[in-house]
Amino acid sequence: MNRDVIIACDFSSKEQTLRFLDQFEKTDRKPFVKVGMELYYAAGPDIVREIKRRGHKIFLDLKLHDIPNTVKKAMSVLRDLDVDICNLHAAGTIPMMEAAIEGLTRADGTRPLLIAVTQLTSTDQESLERDLLIARPMEEVVLHYAMNAKKAGLDGVVCSPLEAARVHEVCGKSFLTVTPGIRFADGAKDDQKRIMTPAQARAVGSDYIVVGRPITAAEDPVAAYERCVREFFE
Ligand code: C5P
Repeated sequence: MNRDVIIACDFSSKEQTLRFLDQFEKTDRKPFVKVGMELYYAAGPDIVREIKRRGHKIFLDLKLHDIPNTVKKAMSVLRDLDVDICNLHAAGTIPMMEAAIEGLTRADGTRPLLIAVTQLTSTDQESLERDLLIARPMEEVVLHYAMNAKKAGLDGVVCSPLEAARVHEVCGKSFLTVTPGIRFADGAKDDQKRIMTPAQARAVGSDYIVVGRPITAAEDPVAAYERCVREFFE
């Protein structure tokens, strides 16, 4: 199923992460989990193996960006870790993305889903022009990078839910949009600015929503996760 709620496990240690996931040991539905750089660098590949052992799917959010050969080799390590989704920066160009796919592909032709970061949401129009010397509107750049990812054979992009519909228009309905920036209608926004509720994200066509603090910081994370799933799928 290429649609799901992914919990961003933004914790800094293995113990904290497993304590959090212990709460889901008895639930029917094992949440899809995102492991990011902080946790991976702190706890290493063991945390990925342990979360897989518990029956969760994993989005390993390491955002690779290097020369094609290095990315290819790094991706074959992630392939052997048996993650379900991994990602890279589309800025690494089409040859780098193609090399990543080669590295990820198993002997039987299957592979984890591979998605691209187009432009980080922390980059705004001003820094795009001033720091990166890209004198084009942000939306054009994001859609162009998404098309590059599609040309390279990737499965989708990480984007704001506000961009999901345009990405689907340009890259097709089956090109996946994985969207953070999700908040409950009655919840705290934290530092997120451009947000949508799970139901709104579903309405604009998000395929996967990535949800961190509304679940991890909730008094009852299992109830918050279940609410999120209900709102996203209903
Ligand atoms: O706690 P919250 O729901 O804001 O967490 C969102 C997750 O998605 C975090 O892991 C954050 O790093 C990630 N993310 C994001 N915005 C992006 C890309 C990733 O919030 N553009």
